[in-house]
Amino acid sequence: METLNFLTPELISQAINKIGSPAYVYSRETIEQRCSEVTAFPNAYGLNARYALKANPHLAILKVVESMGLHFDASSEYEVMRCLHAGIPGEKIQLTGQQFPRKHLKEIVAAGVLFNACSLKQIDEFGKVFPGSSLSFRINPGTGSGSNRKTNVGGPSASFGIWHEQTDQVAKIAAKHNLTINRIHSHIGSGSDPEVWKAVTEMTLAQADKFPNVHTVNLGGGFKVARMSSEKSTNLQEVGGFVKTVFINHAKKTGNEYKLEVEPGTYLSANCGSLICDVDDISDTGENGYTFLKLNTGMDTITRPALYASEHPIIIINDNKDSQDYVVCGHCCESGDVFTVDESDTLTTRTLNKAQVGDTVVIEGAGAYCASMSLKNYNSFPTTPQILLDKGELKVIQHPQSLTEMLAPELIPD
Ligand SMILES: Cc1ncc(COP(=O)(O)O)c(C=O)c1O
Repeated sequence: METLNFLTPELISQAINKIGSPAYVYSRETIEQRCSEVTAFPNAYGLNARYALKANPHLAILKVVESMGLHFDASSEYEVMRCLHAGIPGEKIQLTGQQFPRKHLKEIVAAGVLFNACSLKQIDEFGKVFPGSSLSFRINPGTGSGSNRKTNVGGPSASFGIWHEQTDQVAKIAAKHNLTINRIHSHIGSGSDPEVWKAVTEMTLAQADKFPNVHTVNLGGGFKVARMSSEKSTNLQEVGGFVKTVFINHAKKTGNEYKLEVEPGTYLSANCGSLICDVDDISDTGENGYTFLKLNTGMDTITRPALYASEHPIIIINDNKDSQDYVVCGHCCESGDVFTVDESDTLTTRTLNKAQVGDTVVIEGAGAYCASMSLKNYNSFPTTPQILLDKGELKVIQHPQSLTEMLAPELIPD
C-alpha cells in the first residue's frame, strides 16, 4: 500500500475546511529540496539549472523555484509571458517552443529572453526579425528515452528539434542572417537509461564542436521520478557524475569546455503536489465484475492516467484494517476516466483500505503535469483550487472557480 508524501490527516482536514474537496496541495519545503538536488547536479565547467515550467506553471510555484536560484524553460510564448508576469527577469527565461511566437516575439526578445529554435524554419523566422543576434537550437539526437511513445521525445518518431543529420543546414541559415549559435540543446525524454544519456551527451558535444561560438550545452529534459513505491527515481548524483566524466573526456580531446544546462520539470514538482478528494459513490458489476470507487475528481483534474496510462498512488484516509480491490474511477462521463490502469492501458484493480462513501482520498505524485495539463472544465466541472503548504501554513494560491468565472468568456450571439 502507498503512503502519504508530506500531508498528514490533520493537514488534510485543515485543507478541506479551508477550501473544500477536491483541492491540490503543494509543499514549498519539498519543492525547495528538489531544487537543491538539481542545483547540486555534478558538472565540470559550470551548471545552469532550468525549471521546465510546463510541469507546473503556477505563479506561486515559479516564485519558489526562482528563490532557489533556478532559471526557466518555457514551451510557448505564453509561458514566457507568465514568467515575466511573475516578475522573473527575461535573461533567466529560455523559450523552447514547438510553435514559433506569433504575438509576443518582439516583447519577449526585448525583455532579454533566450530563444531556442526547435526547427530549421524557426531559425529562419528568427533571423528575419533579428538578424545579427544570438540563439540556440534544439537537436533531435536520434534516440530517446521515456516510458512510452507519448513521453519519448527523441528519435525518428518525435517531431521535436532539428534532426541530428540536418545540422549543417543550421549553419547555412544562421550565416544567411548573420546569426550566432551560442548554445545547443538536446532532449531525450523522461527516462533514466544511462546508455541513452551517454549516447546523447557524446552526440550533443560533437554537434556543439561544429559551432565555434557555442559555450553552453543543454541536456534538456527529464529525469525519471518514482511516484509509485514500486518505481525508482533517477539518482542525479549518479547520472550527473557520469555526464561530468563525458564532458571532461571530451574537453581533454578537443579543448572545448562547455557549461552544462539541465532542465527538469517532473523531477522538481511531481512529488511536491498531492490531490485531496473523496469517495462520491461505490458500485459494482456483480460477482464476476468489479467494485468501482467513484471519486469527486477525474480526468478533468488529473489527465495523466487517461492520456499516458500513468499510475498515481491512491490513499484512502481511514483507519480501516480491511482492504478491498477497487477500480478507481473519475467523475467524468468517459469510460477512459479511470485511475487504475496498468502500463499497457488495461483496466486493473488496486488494493486499498476498504472505503465508504464520503471517505477522504489522496492522490499522490500530483505536482507535475496535473493542474497544468488538466482538461479544464470538461463536463463543466470547475477548475480545482490549489493550496501551498508553506512553513506549516496552508495558503490558498488558486481559489475555487465559480460558475460565473467559468461561463464569463462564453457569448450567446443576438
Ligand atoms: C524542452 C523540454 N525541456 C524539459 C522538459 C521537462 O521534462 P520533464 O518534465 O519530464 O522533466 C521537457 C518535457 O517534455 C521539454 O520538452
